[in-house]
Amino acid sequence: MSHAELLARHRKVLPSWLALYYDQPIELVDGKGCRVVDGEGTTYLDFFAGILTTMIGYNPPEVVEAVREQAGRMVHTSTLYLIRRQVELAERVAELSGIPDARVFFTTSGSEANEAALLLATSYRRSNQILALRNSYHGRSFGTVAVTGNRSWSPTSLSGLAVAYLQSTYRLRSPFRDLDDDAFTAAGAQDLRDTLDMCTAGDVACLLAEPIQGVGGFCVPPDGYFGALKEVLDAHGILFVSDEVQTGWGRTGEHFWGYQAHGIVPDVLTFAKGVGNGLALGGVVARAEVMNCLGAHSISTFGGNPLACAGALANLDHILANDLQGNALKMGQVFFDRLGSLPARYPFVAEVRGRGLMVAVELCHPSSPGSVQRDPGSVQRSPGSVQRDDVPWPEAAAELLEATRRRGLLIGKGGLYGNVLRIAPPLSVTEDEAAEGLDHLEAAIHEIGEGSWRS
Ligand SMILES: Cc1ncc(COP(=O)(O)O)c(C=O)c1O
Repeated sequence: MSHAELLARHRKVLPSWLALYYDQPIELVDGKGCRVVDGEGTTYLDFFAGILTTMIGYNPPEVVEAVREQAGRMVHTSTLYLIRRQVELAERVAELSGIPDARVFFTTSGSEANEAALLLATSYRRSNQILALRNSYHGRSFGTVAVTGNRSWSPTSLSGLAVAYLQSTYRLRSPFRDLDDDAFTAAGAQDLRDTLDMCTAGDVACLLAEPIQGVGGFCVPPDGYFGALKEVLDAHGILFVSDEVQTGWGRTGEHFWGYQAHGIVPDVLTFAKGVGNGLALGGVVARAEVMNCLGAHSISTFGGNPLACAGALANLDHILANDLQGNALKMGQVFFDRLGSLPARYPFVAEVRGRGLMVAVELCHPSSPGSVQRDPGSVQRSPGSVQRDDVPWPEAAAELLEATRRRGLLIGKGGLYGNVLRIAPPLSVTEDEAAEGLDHLEAAIHEIGEGSWRS
């Protein structure tokens, strides 16, 4: 069946709001390592990895074998019974989390992990008040859209939570963008104090934040930023929940968890995506006192089932044994070295930013005021290189997705206005694959610069 036929059937039975990539969406039917094959036989290098989820590549033998072996014996029992693989995985995650006296609860997705964290924090603190960041994304469920600070992904304002939004780590459009790192961090901490004083009743349950905003376009705060915020939170007894759904398992290169760039340990940590290399698994880690605060029974029918946990254990073993965090650091540098000069070469490239294998390229309209004289070294953020009134250019991002796909490369996009390219290959990406993908990306960016697609 052709992609066009499948799309027609998809449109008839699936929700209209289920976002699909490309003018002519594709089905991915096969994969090996960093490469995937679509339903019409075309092969691509995949630099979006199922939204930062396929961490060690497609069809890794160890995970396939672990899943096959487990599926042949027992797929599912529910959490009413002891699950050996779940206990083993919980022991590993508890130790890796850095949270003292940690307890782990498994879910089937990141949304559900954050739901669990919200349930814990609000119950522990007996408060429905939550702090979140502007430009954040925490999931698709009723509770998590309520704490998502991105209009495009937040379809309702209804919820039982009272949410106050702090200034974002998206520096390009932050009122604090012209400050240096230390001043930016101090301004963020002051904004937190002000928000507590002016927008809450004081007894807030938690701050839920992504160490690097993912859907928001890989927005990286200065190291230590969340440490400064946590000092304020601690003074009020407010929990810090680190949403590590995108930043966990070594993706940022420098650290295993995103929070580790900030000299703190969170009270609660949530994870999903990469833990199972594509198996439906997520979870929440909290110290025992917080995790055990619920005054009623709870179960998860599917969360942490034998199949997902068996695969996740094999995946985790592979990540650690092959030091894929180290590879993310090394390969991330390859990406930033090649892409760092884009803002100087193309007036519509406003910024290249990110960490490790979270690489973002923000596109703004070439005729907007800040589009000239960019700093050639703007690999992270370069003060003064972009104007706040740069006009987002989502059409160029959409066209770049098409142009890279035509060349055999899959990448993602995101950002508040859909104008940020997101490049996040499996952590197992090799130097040759990085170079190949970068050639395609640069050629596509050049094509966009030539402008013929607009005529
Ligand atoms: C930071 C973050 N939190 C939570 C979620 C929700 O995860 P899921 O789609 O597995 O529900 C996502 C998904 O993209 C995410 O990026």
